[in-house]
Amino acid sequence: MTDAPARHRKRFGPLLGLAALWLLGTTATAEDDPGARIAHEGNDRGATACIQCHGEQGQGQAQPPFPRLAGLPEAYLIEQMQAYREGQRPNPTMAQVAQHLADDEIEAVSRYYAGMEPAGGPYRVPAGLLERGRGIALEGLPDRNIQSCASCHGEQGQKRSPALPPLAGHPPRYLMSQLRAYAQGSRKTSLAGLMQGIAKALEEEEMAAVSAYFASLPAREE
Ligand code: HEC
Ligand code: HEC
Repeated sequence: MTDAPARHRKRFGPLLGLAALWLLGTTATAEDDPGARIAHEGNDRGATACIQCHGEQGQGQAQPPFPRLAGLPEAYLIEQMQAYREGQRPNPTMAQVAQHLADDEIEAVSRYYAGMEPAGGPYRVPAGLLERGRGIALEGLPDRNIQSCASCHGEQGQKRSPALPPLAGHPPRYLMSQLRAYAQGSRKTSLAGLMQGIAKALEEEEMAAVSAYFASLPAREE
């Protein structure tokens, strides 16, 4: 297995060197990374270019709300795309996109967005909601046994691990819609059970408040 590529490297070494120089000299990154190509152009089987909705930098937008993709964990992105495709996360817009992507395309585009600089937000939100949201996010609601969001998502909503999405930099309406989807049980990804329990315990106004808090924070590295 290791022999063949080595032989090829020797034989095509000079050519590859030239190709690398040529690539360095071009700015068309979309041409050499299949993930970047899908993000910018979609594919010829009907998947729309991601940037049309999620933005040139993967930053998302406020209205209609599109989530940021830049800097989300790769394993999380892959799982969500598969869930849209197979219906554990019902959403007509994203189902339409994901159903036209093969597994290797989902992997490539997820790798592309995971490797991007985090981008998105901060969004302007009403000050009253923000204050209320900060309290729930950082301290939870101990009298009702609701754990702080920060214990998993980080105080700045920045925390990322393979299965744990950051919350900072998402539009407030997007965060709100996801809390509702968990509370109603319609979002059913592998770890969604965790969030369903938490979201079911929150009042609408509390969901709006924590959504405002995390949306007011810009996407950033850990
Ligand atoms: C026509 C607009 C549109 C296009 C094009 C689009 N998306 Fe989306 N995307 C959305 C919307 C709307 C949502 C929120 C759906 C929901 O409520 O679950 C979303 C959500 C997502 C999410 C979930 C993010 C999270 O934080 O859980 C991922 C991942 C995603 N899109 C990836 C992609 C990729 C990759 C492409 C390109 C192949 C793409 N999208 C193209 C509109 C779009
Ligand atoms: C015990 C850990 C834990 C706690 C506490 C927690 N979460 Fe989560 N959260 C998760 C996990 C894991 C996911 C990914 C679930 C999935 O795959 O759908 C998630 C996903 C989310 C999402 C979806 C993000 C996206 O990009 O679509 C939102 C919104 C969210 N959490 C908000 C909150 C809020 C608000 C709180 C506090 C009230 C909270 N979470 C507390 C673990 C936690």
